[in-house]
Amino acid sequence: MNIRAIRGATIVVENTKTDIVQKTKEMLSKMICENNISISDIISIVFSVTEDITACPPAVAARAIGITEAGLMCVQEMKTESEAGIPMCVRALMTTESNLPQKNITHIYVNGAEVLRPDLAGKFKSIAIDGPCGSGKSTVAKMVADRLGYLHVDTGAMYRAVAYYCITVGISLTNETKIAKITENLNITLSKNPIDGSQSIFLNEQDITELIRTQQVAEGSSVVAGIKEVRERLVELQRKIAKRNNVVMDGRDIGSYVLSDANLKIYLDADVAIRAKRRMSELLNKGSHSDFETVKEEIKMRDLRDMSREYSPLVKADDAKVVDTSDMNINEVVEFIISLLN
Ligand code: DC
Repeated sequence: MNIRAIRGATIVVENTKTDIVQKTKEMLSKMICENNISISDIISIVFSVTEDITACPPAVAARAIGITEAGLMCVQEMKTESEAGIPMCVRALMTTESNLPQKNITHIYVNGAEVLRPDLAGKFKSIAIDGPCGSGKSTVAKMVADRLGYLHVDTGAMYRAVAYYCITVGISLTNETKIAKITENLNITLSKNPIDGSQSIFLNEQDITELIRTQQVAEGSSVVAGIKEVRERLVELQRKIAKRNNVVMDGRDIGSYVLSDANLKIYLDADVAIRAKRRMSELLNKGSHSDFETVKEEIKMRDLRDMSREYSPLVKADDAKVVDTSDMNINEVVEFIISLLN
């Protein structure tokens, strides 16, 4: 376990004990739940209040929800000449034990306090790119993200990470109960190389970026993606990333489910023969070879599985813009998406 800091802030409507306690409880509960910590993990909380809050100290709310062991302190906010600040505000700095890296901590700004830190309160832009295998989603998403300075999130890589883990440790892909259980404890993180902008995926601290690009893992990822609990866990991760970054996220259910309020939704498609040809040349570039019909059949099978599964199948969101890339090159697709934003 590591020591982490969680920030929180809420606005209080009335300077009464009831309102101060209720709003502070709401803020604290979110700080705890959204970061998956327990009350016993909390080491200390420092509360600060603006000078118009006098009816009771917010630490009362902490005790009311069972935070009795942690060190609590309440102080009055500093009044500065340069920044007016917002009135009737309770702020909190919670120190806690947690397995999450500090960058994955969710800070909580509620009841109007979002204006203090819009960057932390989820006012970010998102572009959703969905489509079948080989439609060029990931390449296009990465290029659009680079152009806009957004973060590219390849959600397929996350499903591949789960499949890779199962294959490596010998868990049968038909053992849904076991896969659902182990996914809870897998630590999957994406990180961007600051030098060349390429993205790496880590599974329990191991860089598996290249290891997940095999045919066996591709097949397996489509199978584990049908398991409800796997989807729930990965969707939670994906939404967390989008809550704190401008993102271009690609996958199968991004526009229809994960980011249903995305600022722009694209559904990329292409003729299956063209997708198979693209896949063949990718394989050849990596030094492996497979015949055209086999690759085409594998793609068709994976599409069918992704489109017909029970939970969040691949569908075009009603408000998604369909882009058929059969006769377009990558640059044309990227330019077209950028033009939709303007
Ligand atoms: O895009 P890809 O080939 O890397 O995706 C691997 C598999 O993961 C794909 O067959 C379907 C699944 N997937 C999914 O179900 N939902 C997503 N958002 C992304 C991928």
